Amino acid sequence: MSPLSGQNILLGVTGGIAAYKAAELLRLLRGAGAEVRVVMTPAAAEFVGPLTFQALSGHPVSSELLDPAAESAMGHIALARWADRIVVAPASADVMARLRAGLADDLLTTLCLAATAPVILAPAMNQAMWQHPATRENAAVLRQRGICLLGPATGEQACGETGPGRMLEPAAILAALITAEPSGRLAGVRILISAGPTREAIDPVRYLTNRSSGRMGYALAAAATAQGARVSLVSGPTALPRPDVERHVAVESAAEMAEAVLGLAPASDIYIGTAAVADYAPAPSADKIKKDADTLTLTLTRTRDILAAVAGLPERPFTVGFAAETRDLETYARAKLAAKRLDMVAANAVGAGLGFEVDDNALHVCWPDGETRLPTAPKTVLAHQLLDLIADRYHAHHPAQDPR
Ligand code: PMT
Repeated sequence: MSPLSGQNILLGVTGGIAAYKAAELLRLLRGAGAEVRVVMTPAAAEFVGPLTFQALSGHPVSSELLDPAAESAMGHIALARWADRIVVAPASADVMARLRAGLADDLLTTLCLAATAPVILAPAMNQAMWQHPATRENAAVLRQRGICLLGPATGEQACGETGPGRMLEPAAILAALITAEPSGRLAGVRILISAGPTREAIDPVRYLTNRSSGRMGYALAAAATAQGARVSLVSGPTALPRPDVERHVAVESAAEMAEAVLGLAPASDIYIGTAAVADYAPAPSADKIKKDADTLTLTLTRTRDILAAVAGLPERPFTVGFAAETRDLETYARAKLAAKRLDMVAANAVGAGLGFEVDDNALHVCWPDGETRLPTAPKTVLAHQLLDLIADRYHAHHPAQDPR
């Protein structure tokens, strides 16, 4: 049975082009067994007709604060009491600002103020609006008050710009709602995540690197933050915008990553090594290497194994490694688990649209006395599923901290 089975979810839809995706989210929520009622702002109704949501939810859509018909059936206070969770998707910059200010100038903001149920927002807006200091501040204040923000994702926007501000895909929102406990099962847990590639300098203008985009690690950082964790992200160079995490440390080389991770690991409860760290690095030349000779030989030296070093700390965090393999995935994953004395390994086959650089992945996750497969899905979805497995195993080691 789905954890959403029988839950009463109030779906708030605000004005924005992503409103059309709310219809798909509604369909998925109902498919997962939730009872859904929809509240639309007048601006949302300009983008998608209420009839669509009425047909999909099986209930009339509410939009007016002072609606005599609604007050005689399910008035706004009754609706606020009915909800087990309020999910606002898409959540516009405007509704975030009004929620932050505590306004109750339409039905949706009134419900958010009147309800005691957890409120979850899936922001969607133009990238400049998302990155504006006012919105950043609103997001931070809402988070401090316990409102959960899922996303936004980064990518091409309807306005033709590219950047952070796209609403998370409905499947990713559903995965977050299924895995994240209303109380935040990872609330307050200190999670350290490494992400992206490293760059190993050959000389002042050249370097060795790999194909990691950082997407898997950044998705984990966003999902962990959404689940209430205090996240530190140590990131190699990526083109991704800085996510909303408690601490973000930008590094280049494997040696810098080792220093940052090992500095933070003793004060972390969980370490997830998603980064594709260079296994070998050259000793960089101080001057640009000239192309005088026909061949060039580089001598590479093994870098420090950060994951093994974290797992070897006297007071080590719960340590999760990744494994990127082109064959014998499960065998190599088990071998890494044992050799580095890890608590868990998430192995991914690389190539054919999975692993490096792409949006999707599939994981074979193993721990000392168990294993499971997480089939192909967007990294934003897999991140929540993997964190759920990590929370299970982590809380099995620390039962006193499990809010379940
Ligand atoms: O960034 P994306 O484009 O989204 O791609 C995601 C990913 C494919 C990079 C990610 O899912 C992944 O598999 N990351 C680990 C890649 C890797 O380096 O695998 P590995 O099998 O070589 O290393 C095993 C583990 O040891 C990893 O947790 C790695 O972080 C760690 N390691 C490796 C070398 C080293 N010197 N120090 C380490 O800590």
